[in-house]
Amino acid sequence: MVFTLTQIAEVPSRLTRRLNAHGGPDVVIRPLVHADSGQLAQFLAALSAETSRFSTFDGYDLAAAQDLCDAIGRYDKLRLVLEEVPSGRIVGLLEFSLALTATDIARYQDAGIRITETTDCRFGATLADDYQGRGIGTLAFPLVREVARLLGKSRIILWGGVRADNFRAIRYYEKNGFHAVGHFTEADGSLSLDMMLHLSPEPDARSLPARRTDS
Ligand SMILES: CC(C)(COP(=O)(O)OP(=O)(O)OC[C@H]1O[C@@H](n2cnc3c(N)ncnc32)[C@H](O)[C@@H]1OP(=O)(O)O)[C@@H](O)C(=O)NCCC(=O)NCCS
Repeated sequence: MVFTLTQIAEVPSRLTRRLNAHGGPDVVIRPLVHADSGQLAQFLAALSAETSRFSTFDGYDLAAAQDLCDAIGRYDKLRLVLEEVPSGRIVGLLEFSLALTATDIARYQDAGIRITETTDCRFGATLADDYQGRGIGTLAFPLVREVARLLGKSRIILWGGVRADNFRAIRYYEKNGFHAVGHFTEADGSLSLDMMLHLSPEPDARSLPARRTDS
């Protein structure tokens, strides 16, 4: 069954998970809500120069955070936050876009791949600097696959690609099933990669209970 963004927003518990990596504080992943703007602004403002070069936002202040919250349910975007428990601090943002730009379509066409808004969605992930490299992005990934499947997609592409010198992110995407399909030059002359993930039709086996072998 395929869900619309509105139907998904109506049942936020469907997209809520509690994670723990390496004995640190628990982290709850859940849809972004309007009340998050203050915490989200703090998350954006605290991103290091390197992280904000790798994950670019329109701004890093309260106005930018409010814009992201104002977009809830209004356009083609779905955003999930990672909230540290019990502090309530936002430590990550997972973003989906159901729209493809003409530039995306042309780039993939150059690589011999036809992407469409029926089959493909765009995805990007940003964790707070002190949460990177701790396995949280990978723990969150079964939910990323699930969101794309709920939206009826069979593939996920990277929103804006990934910079070729972003070695951790490339490793992260590769280990979660993406493969590079092409490269392109950014406005500043640096190189980025386009990467794509093919979703299997079934829910992620790792999120299912273990199969019994004694019967
Ligand atoms: C990219 C990101 C979402 C990944 O989430 P994460 O929780 O840090 O990723 P994980 O810890 O699950 O996996 C990272 C992998 O990269 C490896 N890694 C870490 N630093 C690395 C480096 N400098 N070079 C190569 N691999 C590196 C880790 O060892 C791990 O692989 P392993 O499990 O095989 O050991 C997160 O790091 C992030 O937000 N980075 C900044 C913003 C960004 O770059 N976003 C992506 C924009 S396209």
